[in-house]
Amino acid sequence: MSRIQSVQARTVWDSRGLPTVEAQVTLSSGPSGRAIAPAGASTGAGEAKELRDGGHRFKGMGVTQAVRMVNEQIAPALQGLDIHDQALIDETICQLDGTANKSRLGGNSTTAVSLACLWAASAQADLPLWRYLSGSDEVTLPLPEIQIFGGGAHAKGSVDLQDFLALPHGASSFAESLAWVAEVYHAAGKDLSQRGKNLGVADEGGFWPQFGSNEGAIEALLKAIEQAGFKPGEQVSIGLDLAATQYHHDGIYHWRSEDRRFDRDQLLQVYERWVHDYPIVSMEDGFAEDDIEGMRNMTALLGERLQIIGDDFFVTHAARIAERAALGACNAVLIKPNQVGTVTETMQAVATAKQHHLDSIISARSGETEDVSIVHLAVGWGVPQLKVGSFSRSERMAKWNEGLRIEESLGVHAGFSNQRLFAWLNKA
Ligand code: PGA
Ligand code: ZN
Repeated sequence: MSRIQSVQARTVWDSRGLPTVEAQVTLSSGPSGRAIAPAGASTGAGEAKELRDGGHRFKGMGVTQAVRMVNEQIAPALQGLDIHDQALIDETICQLDGTANKSRLGGNSTTAVSLACLWAASAQADLPLWRYLSGSDEVTLPLPEIQIFGGGAHAKGSVDLQDFLALPHGASSFAESLAWVAEVYHAAGKDLSQRGKNLGVADEGGFWPQFGSNEGAIEALLKAIEQAGFKPGEQVSIGLDLAATQYHHDGIYHWRSEDRRFDRDQLLQVYERWVHDYPIVSMEDGFAEDDIEGMRNMTALLGERLQIIGDDFFVTHAARIAERAALGACNAVLIKPNQVGTVTETMQAVATAKQHHLDSIISARSGETEDVSIVHLAVGWGVPQLKVGSFSRSERMAKWNEGLRIEESLGVHAGFSNQRLFAWLNKA
């Protein structure tokens, strides 16, 4: 048995130039593990709460209190625990926190520590993290979903929808899927520049366009797929993260960029037409985080031919997934470890999704770092899809590149999960 000797936190910096928590866990036997908490911008109300300093420094986003929580409270509580007992480690963290949403210790502190313990355990076992989790080489690489245009809260509302994504489900390997999306990404950028519509780079590395309408961005993505030489709907399809909580107020959905207002039924009609008119295979958070009725209607109408993902809607909480899935809301779940705050609770969310026959998609946050934990979780837990933002900037590329290394290390064993997804395409 190898025991935790020390847990140490420090302040590091994320992709938005804001402070975040890095934790380092050292074992009595020598090995250590390290992880960094990411941070969201369009966060769900039900998420684990980050501990931030407030005040004027760094827009109130300092993490000195969170770092202190790790060093002064979490570290002594975990000292001496068996590093291979992740459930006990996470239970100890939850008990010490004592709140329903990690607000005392901070979800940023707990996420960094919990993941760092997992890395230390894999180092102790002398295995790559994905292999430590899977227990075998029979794994599949996840299908990437990659942001081409960023909008919503990640691009000052230039369009209302948050992510316009490419899903290269016709590729035969993880490596090929990235190579395809690279072509789509560059085709999209070239087209925007030629039309003078590129305002810069959005939070997750996608282009930040000026289209005048949300549908204009979908059309531009479709054009980019075609110009890159791929068959839309067969090789590369479109995914949207609508992040609808951001444009929902008092029962009305309002797209500010077009000044259009919708009630629930009218919005669903727009989505239905889009699914009919464009090669869209996936839509995330099409209705607001508490609009269960909206999500149920959407799933009933479109669930047979569309992946309907809940992100803010489920916030990676197993109980919420079980409850809302049983009501027929959504057929897929976005999984973000820092929405719930520990590895064990994240794993429970994945397991609950599976029990309810929902696909899982492991996802990064808009504020990210070089940390590649989520890629290992996706491969190690057999999660079929991976969403880490766009195809630029190193906090994103670090994760895509880690997937390439894993696929290469597997050689002939490497499976690719595209075949398991979007079953209706195979039937067509
Ligand atoms: P966030 O957004 O990380 O800013 O919360 C990502 C998403 O909605 O998927
Ligand atoms: Zn989302």
